[in-house]
Amino acid sequence: MYSTAQYTDFFISYLETQIIDKEPKNLYDPIEYIMAMGGKRLRPTLTLLTTDFFGADYKLALPAALAIEVFHNSSLIHDDIIDEDPIRRGKPTVHKKWNTNTAILAGDAMIILTYEHLQNYEPNLFKDLIKAVNKMGIKVCEGQILDVDFETRQDVTVSEYLKMIKYKTGALIGTSMKMGAIIAQTSQENCDLIYEFGINIGLAFQLQDDYLDLFGDTPTFGRRLGGDIISNKKTYLYFKALEIVTETEKELLKNLYAVRLKDNTNKIKAITELFLKSGVPKATQESIKKYTFKASKILDKINIEENNKKLLRDFAESLIGRQV
Ligand code: IPE
Ligand code: IPE
Ligand code: MG
Ligand code: MG
Ligand code: MG
Repeated sequence: MYSTAQYTDFFISYLETQIIDKEPKNLYDPIEYIMAMGGKRLRPTLTLLTTDFFGADYKLALPAALAIEVFHNSSLIHDDIIDEDPIRRGKPTVHKKWNTNTAILAGDAMIILTYEHLQNYEPNLFKDLIKAVNKMGIKVCEGQILDVDFETRQDVTVSEYLKMIKYKTGALIGTSMKMGAIIAQTSQENCDLIYEFGINIGLAFQLQDDYLDLFGDTPTFGRRLGGDIISNKKTYLYFKALEIVTETEKELLKNLYAVRLKDNTNKIKAITELFLKSGVPKATQESIKKYTFKASKILDKINIEENNKKLLRDFAESLIGRQV
């Protein structure tokens, strides 16, 4: 096997051969813009790595890796419209640089392009890959609408939140690995186990994303800070705080998360202070470690050389405390 950084490089080189220069420009330019603007390339890296992990040539997985990255980027375009976010990866979001209609259509076209990339596979593999992508795509939509609904609900529970992030984020990461397993033509059991591994690192990944939304560093993280607070998203930080703070602070927190304001400076400041005072960052990091450990335990059930498993375990660990 190669290092994770090498799989990322293999993917980037492949991506560079796939530039679409088509008309109308107003549809294809935003697609090119978001695909070329970087990002960690986490999901395609995992697809390639997983194919290799289960004993097949990673090159077979390149079209599937591209398919999953295109899908991920389509979900980001639509997510930034939903979350009214102006910046992604340090640059203007597609709906800001162009407009909302263009962003909706570019995102739609990218979902179709996901399937086009999968058409590179022979019918049996194609069928299994599509099945996995369809299941995932529906989950992402379900997760995203729950996320939106929770903004205006005051009675959301932590278990509802965990289900929401499992759908909006876990499913995509789990599926990126499952696709690699499908291409390697390993057993159904292995496909399911690696999916579960991906779900758990996906949960850890989203908790860190929630953390970075407030405590990240904009130049590094490339996004606006406090966006989740502005739109009253009940993220993991919120639930952790509710577990820790006093009854009076709980009321204050709930009230702050029930109003939409024009100027959010004081709201963000008050909530940040409450989170810091009650040790929310540390509690969140502990939960991230818990899900990473859970993921690592799943690997114990897979009958593969320990050396190869170590690569996956190390990769999962490397996501803990990420700043980007
Ligand atoms: C952002 O995903 C959306 C979430 C699921 C939190 P990434 O953090 O993987 O985004 P890029 O592709 O690296 O920019
Ligand atoms: C995004 O979750 C999940 C999907 C795009 C499906 P977030 O809304 O938390 O992602 P960021 O923080 O904008 O990247
Ligand atoms: Mg968002
Ligand atoms: Mg969102
Ligand atoms: Mg976020």
